[in-house]
Amino acid sequence: MSKQSLEAKVEPELIRQWIQEIGSDSSAAVPLLQSIQKKYGYLPRKAMDLVVAGTEINASQLYGVATFYAQFRLTPVGRHLIKVCHGTACHVSGADRVNTSLRHILGITDEAEDTADNGSYTVENVACIGCCSLAPVMVVGTEAFPNLKGADAQRFLSKHAASVGEHLPGKSGDGDAVESGSAMEAHA
Ligand code: FES
Repeated sequence: MSKQSLEAKVEPELIRQWIQEIGSDSSAAVPLLQSIQKKYGYLPRKAMDLVVAGTEINASQLYGVATFYAQFRLTPVGRHLIKVCHGTACHVSGADRVNTSLRHILGITDEAEDTADNGSYTVENVACIGCCSLAPVMVVGTEAFPNLKGADAQRFLSKHAASVGEHLPGKSGDGDAVESGSAMEAHA
């Protein structure tokens, strides 16, 4: 399955219903975007067009709000979401290296992209997830992977991919020495 298959099917009646319930002036922009994102996981282009057509909010205002707040995204999320903590403790412990390593094994080469071409995984940078003593940490689904050193991130992702039947389109081997860590249930 490709990344295109992640595109949401937007129901125009639903968007129109939200506009009726929430409102159509500029103060409705954030709650409308929140409803759309909650339903589809991102802000599909078609839904954005419907909001512009059905409210007093013009396209530049709407996209201005959508790009200002980190909670909104304009592209679909992969079938599995990897959250890489970039809080202070994780940052100084190598969060950037974890990120690079994951993008490498997922074959994500475009800086502006965060999802593998086959739609399998999205790599998202997040703020502190509350287990700083175990930095650096990533969360895949509900599972947290602490103390990521060397090739740990790639190794854990390979295991996860095998367990859920996903193919990793990139190459491994971006890590340094392999040191073991173990997964734990995420509380964040
Ligand atoms: S900084 Fe990463 S868990 Fe706190």
